[in-house]
Amino acid sequence: MKALVCKHHGEPESLSFEDWPAPTPRDGEVLVALHAAGLNYPDILQVAGTYQIGSAIPCVFGAEGAGEVIACGAGVEQFRPGDRVLVLAMGCWAEQVCVPAAALVKLAEGIDMVSAAAFPVAYNTAWHALLQRGDLRAGETLLVHGASGGVGLAAVQIGKYLGARVIATGSCDDKLERVRRLGADQVINCRTRALREALHELTDGAGVDVVFDPVGGAQVDATLKSLAPFGRLLVIGFTSGQIAQLPSNLLLLREAVAIGVNIGQWTRRNPAASRQNLVDIQARIAAGQLVPFVARTFDLADGAAALRSILNREVVGKYVLLTELGKLHADRCLREKSFAHRGRGA
Ligand SMILES: NC(=O)c1ccc[n+]([C@@H]2O[C@H](COP(=O)([O-])OP(=O)(O)OC[C@H]3O[C@@H](n4cnc5c(N)ncnc54)[C@H](OP(=O)(O)O)[C@@H]3O)[C@@H](O)[C@H]2O)c1
Repeated sequence: MKALVCKHHGEPESLSFEDWPAPTPRDGEVLVALHAAGLNYPDILQVAGTYQIGSAIPCVFGAEGAGEVIACGAGVEQFRPGDRVLVLAMGCWAEQVCVPAAALVKLAEGIDMVSAAAFPVAYNTAWHALLQRGDLRAGETLLVHGASGGVGLAAVQIGKYLGARVIATGSCDDKLERVRRLGADQVINCRTRALREALHELTDGAGVDVVFDPVGGAQVDATLKSLAPFGRLLVIGFTSGQIAQLPSNLLLLREAVAIGVNIGQWTRRNPAASRQNLVDIQARIAAGQLVPFVARTFDLADGAAALRSILNREVVGKYVLLTELGKLHADRCLREKSFAHRGRGA
């Protein structure tokens, strides 16, 4: 089979698209023919070799995907060949992946493979952060930094779904306008506006209750100063490249808390709860209450170009890679849709 292989750490372009041994399922494992795989910022760090958790190379990265089951190892009762599934496990930048059955969730009717591959990491992170760590309540104000990115946009949507007022930040007007159209109540361009002043104005001085922060860096000070009493700062990541030092006096003054969120660690410790989160999120997607936004699909072979575009801050929401099987299937769906459309006399 073909895969996007990391043979040595470096820039996205150091990945090579080549033949890779096809896996065979052992006891308790399931072999999935992938249609689509998602991309996330941490993938860039993994390829570069700078991620907190190292990986032995050569290897195939890609933490999420969607496809159909082609074989099951002994002891697997809950899946069978032909099942449509989403995968939350490493190795998805390939035509096939072999994973423990616990890393799979059956895909709900009506969810296409591209959307399915786009939500596991981002939505699971934002869902866990906002519900299980930040305890976001209806009527509260949520501030989302890096709101145009994968986890940021998921947090905007989940915040709105939970009944919060959502203020989104970023550094590009065009991307922020898209974020506003996708659900944010207000947006702030941190390149052109002072964050603290803008938040003071938008909240009439009351401050924000919960902050979802995948960016870190210089704006942490203004963020803490804009927290409401009993505010919660969710530390998600550091796309700014800077790990900020938190002035603890600002937490004391507001009786606020800073909360670390680590979806990988939490999933390893609580696999059943993480899987349940995916089931719950999927139910909201199937009902149209949450809508993963996929800005563009790329061929699996062009994964490096997609990662480069994420690194260049061009993406809004998510990019998804398609295998040959995924492309065939997507073409067939399109043809069937257009046939049905013509059949209705359009
Ligand atoms: N804690 C967890 O469990 C967990 C799980 C998943 C991801 N993460 C982390 O969350 C962060 C975001 O991941 P993602 O997949 O959403 O990334 P992404 O899609 O690339 O989005 C990154 C966002 O950060 C903003 N940004 C600000 N400064 C930046 C800079 N110097 N370089 C790049 N982007 C910058 C960008 O918005 P503007 O261009 O508008 O500023 C963009 O919206 C990463 O640090 C990732 O490691 C953490």
